[in-house]
Amino acid sequence: MRSKLVVGNWKMNGSRAANATLLSGIVAGLGGAKAACAVCAPAPYLAQCQELLAGTPVAWGAQDVSVHASGAYTGEVAAAMLADFACRYVIVGHSERRAYHGEGNELVARKAKAALDAGLTPIVCVGETLAQREANQTAAVVGEQLGTVLETLSPEEVTKIVVAYEPVWAIGTGKTATPAMAQEVHAQLRAQLKVRVGKEAAQQLHILYGGSMKPDNAAELMAQPDIDGGLIGGASLKAAEFLAIINAA
Ligand code: 13P
Repeated sequence: MRSKLVVGNWKMNGSRAANATLLSGIVAGLGGAKAACAVCAPAPYLAQCQELLAGTPVAWGAQDVSVHASGAYTGEVAAAMLADFACRYVIVGHSERRAYHGEGNELVARKAKAALDAGLTPIVCVGETLAQREANQTAAVVGEQLGTVLETLSPEEVTKIVVAYEPVWAIGTGKTATPAMAQEVHAQLRAQLKVRVGKEAAQQLHILYGGSMKPDNAAELMAQPDIDGGLIGGASLKAAEFLAIINAA
């Protein structure tokens, strides 16, 4: 059986003081949780994450990465820089980056490749908007989003990614996909991965669900056969809620 993975996406939230309280609360409350967990912090706080989380079971990562290795790219952060702060993960293709920064499938795939080249695990986000779901385009949209990544990476590289299904209409809205709705998309994504990497490897890959996952719906979502954990926004900013989700996994 695949282990579960619960990742907090802090988005553009936090301060040195708030992070210290949150992280110490998470570490103190983790106990013997079986699920693996991580937090993806804003880049300026990665040093703080390393300082407070090194040697604990909580991994850390970033929320975006440049496709470039170094050079004249003002404001960008290279994958090697994230690795320099011992990041394990980096989120790529979050819907907020797709929507507000015009990131398309090709760029997202190149970001996944840049992350892998630096030894990081990219968490590749896919998901449809409400209009796309209502127009019955969910399968086509997420299929194309993942498909571009699968074409860009070698099968060997694909075995090292994490996929996150985040229906855009469920993010920050309090609306969650029903477990059945989410499972349907997760099963489709796993079938698509299987074509690229084979059955055994596809069975090992983690596909996370994200979009208003909370302590009261986490267990039911993560009980679905193809839902291997969560990518948590709002509820990852409170230690008690984040811990409750980790313990539900
Ligand atoms: P919420 O959990 O706040 O809906 O955010 C989900 C998300 O976008 C995680 O990346």
